[in-house]
Amino acid sequence: MAATSPSPASGSIVAEDLAKTYGGNVRAVDGISFEVRPGEIFGFLGPNGAGKTTTVSILTAGLGATSGRAFVDGLDVVRHPLAVKRRIGIVFQEMTSDGDLTGRENIELAAHLYGVPRAEVRSRCEALMARMQIGEAADRLAKTYSGGMRRRLELAAGIVHAPSILFLDEPTLGLDPQGRAGFWKFVEELRHEHRMTVFVTTHYLEEADGMCERIAIIDHGKIVAHGTPGELKDRLGGDIVTVQPTAPSPALEALLRSLPGATSVQGLDGSYRVKSPSGEKLVPALVEACVHGGIGLASVSVKRPSLDEVFLEFTGREFREDEGASATDRAVMLSRVRDQLGRRR
Ligand SMILES: Nc1ncnc2c1ncn2[C@@H]1O[C@H](COP(=O)(O)OP(=O)(O)OP(=O)(O)O)[C@@H](O)[C@H]1O
Ligand SMILES: [Mg+2]
Repeated sequence: MAATSPSPASGSIVAEDLAKTYGGNVRAVDGISFEVRPGEIFGFLGPNGAGKTTTVSILTAGLGATSGRAFVDGLDVVRHPLAVKRRIGIVFQEMTSDGDLTGRENIELAAHLYGVPRAEVRSRCEALMARMQIGEAADRLAKTYSGGMRRRLELAAGIVHAPSILFLDEPTLGLDPQGRAGFWKFVEELRHEHRMTVFVTTHYLEEADGMCERIAIIDHGKIVAHGTPGELKDRLGGDIVTVQPTAPSPALEALLRSLPGATSVQGLDGSYRVKSPSGEKLVPALVEACVHGGIGLASVSVKRPSLDEVFLEFTGREFREDEGASATDRAVMLSRVRDQLGRRR
């Protein structure tokens, strides 16, 4: 995936050995290279603090990299920041719509900022609001919108100038599954109609699995894996059988390794992950061997590989264990508090 020369292709995004160090010592992005092809939806996944927003900020010409180069739509983001900004749409991780303006005013404001011809502003806004199912609420203040409506408003404002490349930084954070599904439906439709390239960061691995054609997993500023979701899961080599003994058992690991069909065994916090081309076939033999060996089993589960498993495989940690009150969560909480205070006034 490493790009050795800039791709001139319009609609593409190229990162070449990008790095960003904050304040001389926080290495937020640590030499990443990738290429997003024109028209594809590319997922950039990683836990809190992995470097996702920093990468998006560099690619969208909002932040200078410490080293490396980036090209968006064939343009160097450092040499042509304004041209890049005109060609892209961004939905930021933080809420950027103004709660004290109506939905319509927010979209119109974005249209003017992006230089949409005056004669077209009204009709584009109407069409987008209807499309995003916020037409009925167009003249209500944005702070009265539900979370899902507000995110759709942000999406409408981000694409009002019909960009060829769309950046979405945690666009569905805090939405319920229905709200997330609704949001993605619009992104999918827009992508097909306008052949838009979409670069999306997300915490929701299962969402990325269903939506993204290719993904990169970033951890501590480095890309640890990339490919299609299917390729990454195939690299795990089959099902994952998780075995939890009733008590720590020194003999269990050797027993698991000796099972026909067990291709690898990994200990994790007192339990074991056994990989096998067919988990269902492994389990009866596994249970029988444990009964024979006098090893008590608290649980045995079989999972088809998911992106959670992919993350665990490439980083050695569970994806969720990094979660805490992150920059992401704080931003969402702050904007909600800000809006609630605004509503009371
Ligand atoms: N302006 C800044 N000054 C100093 N450090 C920063 C700054 N912005 C981000 N960082 C640090 O850089 C690292 C990467 O942050 P970044 O926001 O890019 O991560 P992220 O993957 O977007 O995380 P999240 O999932 O929480 O949004 C973190 O350690 C963060 O604390
Ligand atoms: Mg972020």
